[in-house]
Amino acid sequence: MFGKRAQGGVAEAPSVAPPRPAAAPPPSAPVRREAEERAPKAPPPTVQIAERSDEYYQIKSQIFSALIDTIDLAQLARLDVDSAREEIRDIVSEIITIKNVVMSIAEQESLLDDICNDVLGYGPLEPLLARDDIADIMVNGANRVFIEVSGKIQLTNVRFRDNSQLLNICQRIVSQVGRRIDESSPICDARLLDGSRVNVIVPPLAIDGPTLTIRKFKKDKLKLSDLERFGSISPEGARILEIIGHCRCNVIVSGGTGSGKTTLLNCLTAFIDTTERVITCEDAAELQLQQPHVVRLETRPPNLEGQGEITMRDLVRNCLRMRPERIIVGEVRGPEAFDLLQAMNTGHDGSMGTLHANSPREALSRLESMITMGGFSLPSKTIREMICGSVDVIVQAARLRDGSRRITHITEVLGQEGDVIITQDLFVYEIEGEEAGRVIGRHRSTGIARPAFWDRARYFGREAELAEALSAAGG
Ligand SMILES: Nc1ncnc2c1ncn2[C@@H]1O[C@H](COP(=O)(O)OP(=O)(O)OP(=O)(O)O)[C@@H](O)[C@H]1O
Ligand SMILES: [Mg+2]
Repeated sequence: MFGKRAQGGVAEAPSVAPPRPAAAPPPSAPVRREAEERAPKAPPPTVQIAERSDEYYQIKSQIFSALIDTIDLAQLARLDVDSAREEIRDIVSEIITIKNVVMSIAEQESLLDDICNDVLGYGPLEPLLARDDIADIMVNGANRVFIEVSGKIQLTNVRFRDNSQLLNICQRIVSQVGRRIDESSPICDARLLDGSRVNVIVPPLAIDGPTLTIRKFKKDKLKLSDLERFGSISPEGARILEIIGHCRCNVIVSGGTGSGKTTLLNCLTAFIDTTERVITCEDAAELQLQQPHVVRLETRPPNLEGQGEITMRDLVRNCLRMRPERIIVGEVRGPEAFDLLQAMNTGHDGSMGTLHANSPREALSRLESMITMGGFSLPSKTIREMICGSVDVIVQAARLRDGSRRITHITEVLGQEGDVIITQDLFVYEIEGEEAGRVIGRHRSTGIARPAFWDRARYFGREAELAEALSAAGG
């Protein structure tokens, strides 16, 4: 019942209530949390969602039905979010009194909040969305909601009333990008108002109910100094990355899912000179460049009729006609690899992109296979030549088994010997062991005193700094 009516209301509803920090305050600032993550004495992060009993859910369901019978959704939709919230709170308080429900003041307050969230916002997701320390929210059907905090995935006690409530919320999310989700179109990518990236897949494709994956948007993106503080990179490593970013090296950031590729790319872009014209191409705009001269482009999925799609390749190719000085591709996953490499090769040095691979070598073979699979009939020798001529540095990110994120390699692409691409690690992270569930290791330079981008560094007047960082990183 709620499903249909709520959908009707949602079409004109005052969209979404902004996340309310009061719902569940983050336990601590993200920076501090990560610092604590490294400190052996720090308590492990806990899932701070108020415990709800089955009885609570039953009462909530009764009150909710009574509310829906009483309230005029169309009228509610005309109110602004705060007034609508007030209105709902008044009616719910009245229902609680009439029905003679026995509840403590605290329980009543959380019930009021929950119901407001259900009607106006993203329901049970709201307290999770309000928390800044959560990186991902993963909803596998109505009763299983996982979150990722400090690199660790944890099950929460958040539940939806049933799959239809969850589907409703999915519908509300995708309606913001002008889409509907149903059996005939069961997959959708969308974005929340705060910029968080969302993927929805529903039955029959998702067998156990609507499945929602949210990558929370961090308003304050991590900076290289933050990564340094968390131990993701050593201070010397950070200096090397800074020089790489500044000296217009062509960089591929490689890493697994959620390993911190986009974050790292964003950090590298911080060292781009403010005078440079930068064009970014992304599937969902996540990068936050601080330079004044940035053009941000975003791909577009096809509409319901399967038309109007603008692919990453279209964007990158168009970019070349926009007089870019640097091109930044959020994620390279297909034939756009060819265009990015060409751009890198033809005067747009300092271009960067991320790709999904578990080691620098794998990143190279992924690049090659993306070009081969993109239908370019080039011999593999030519493709490799192209890769060698374009990519200067591969920076590898990884999420280790203890959930911490590290930059594990800074690797240079040197050239080709026969059929093989020659690379050289400048800087690596070595795992030395494990202590109380935490991976212990250290970053060190491999002893190369003159990297291949030395001349570049000299051209930008940073060779002394580079030499110093490399030697301080030790052997
Ligand atoms: N070095 C780090 N230390 C702690 N947290 C990090 C670090 N790097 C990234 N994160 C956090 O991890 C989450 C995932 O990061 P990010 O989006 O950069 O990963 P990704 O590899 O681009 O993911 P995807 O494969 O989904 O695109 C974010 O919440 C981000 O803030
Ligand atoms: Mg990413």
